[in-house]
Amino acid sequence: MSEKFKITIDGVSAEVEPGTTILNAARQIGGDLVPPAMCYYSKLEGSGGKCRTCLVKVSKGSEKDPRPMPKLVASCRTTVMDGMEVQNITSPEVLEARKGVVEFLLINHPLDCPVCDQAGECKLQDLSYEHGAEATRYEFNRRTFERIDIGDKIQLHMNRCILCYRCVYVANQLTDNRVHGIVGRGDMSEISTYVEKAIDNDFSGNVIDVCPVGALTDKTFRFKNRVWFTRPVSAHRDCDKCCGKVTLWYKGEDVLRVTARKDEYGEVEEFICNTCRYDKKKTSDWVIDGPAQIQRQSVISANHYDGKVVPVIDKR
Ligand code: SF4
Ligand code: FES
Repeated sequence: MSEKFKITIDGVSAEVEPGTTILNAARQIGGDLVPPAMCYYSKLEGSGGKCRTCLVKVSKGSEKDPRPMPKLVASCRTTVMDGMEVQNITSPEVLEARKGVVEFLLINHPLDCPVCDQAGECKLQDLSYEHGAEATRYEFNRRTFERIDIGDKIQLHMNRCILCYRCVYVANQLTDNRVHGIVGRGDMSEISTYVEKAIDNDFSGNVIDVCPVGALTDKTFRFKNRVWFTRPVSAHRDCDKCCGKVTLWYKGEDVLRVTARKDEYGEVEEFICNTCRYDKKKTSDWVIDGPAQIQRQSVISANHYDGKVVPVIDKR
């Protein structure tokens, strides 16, 4: 067995396998010291290194070479060295830099949360709430794109895309026939399908689940409901294409949409096929496992009272 490396993040130490990134070491520790990640996705090979939200400060390089790293580093792309010391939320420099990254991400992102289906489960919304500035200093026109139709199941809103590449990795790694990608360079980059082909592949719907913002949303759920008014329920079925483990999003008796189950970092636990996602919207299609666990900080958990501390009401 290989020797483990010791890393200390915000004063909390852990031992991790050599080759582990700082971000994954932080996830092993858990809690507030885990840097946010808008483009890294543990289930997608090669992801990360695009958005810079996961910046941290390496205040001690390693036991052998204790010099600090001269600049902040992307924790999803930097591997742990033995004896490394890292600062995330304890470093004002990191918090200031993250604020700058959020400002950059929002330069072209429209503030259309009130009409966006992703509102409530949008990572950029959470990120700007926690790390953003109150106002933008940007005075120029935002980048806008012509609408592109990529089929009857997935809605692409290029204006909202933050170019994290996750959907491209999904298409590359999960489907056998990728027809979309990032075309153009610099601020002309956009997610597009050449010849506007529909994405009709058994696993193409997963691009919806991995998209951190509202750039790729489920057309079959479009404008049906705000996500926080729906009730997420875990369910499964015997599926010959995927694991068949999903979350059903109910409004009353109706299943409004089906998604993969997500973990505490908003990543899908296992990818699901399009049959489960789009064609099985009746309760009778599923075996119900029970209410889905939703993270407390998510707005979707607003109507779920598990473990809620009831405030003491002063009746005087
Ligand atoms: S469409 Fe979504 S998943 Fe794809 S690159 Fe843009 S933000 Fe990322
Ligand atoms: S999560 Fe590390 S650069 Fe995007």
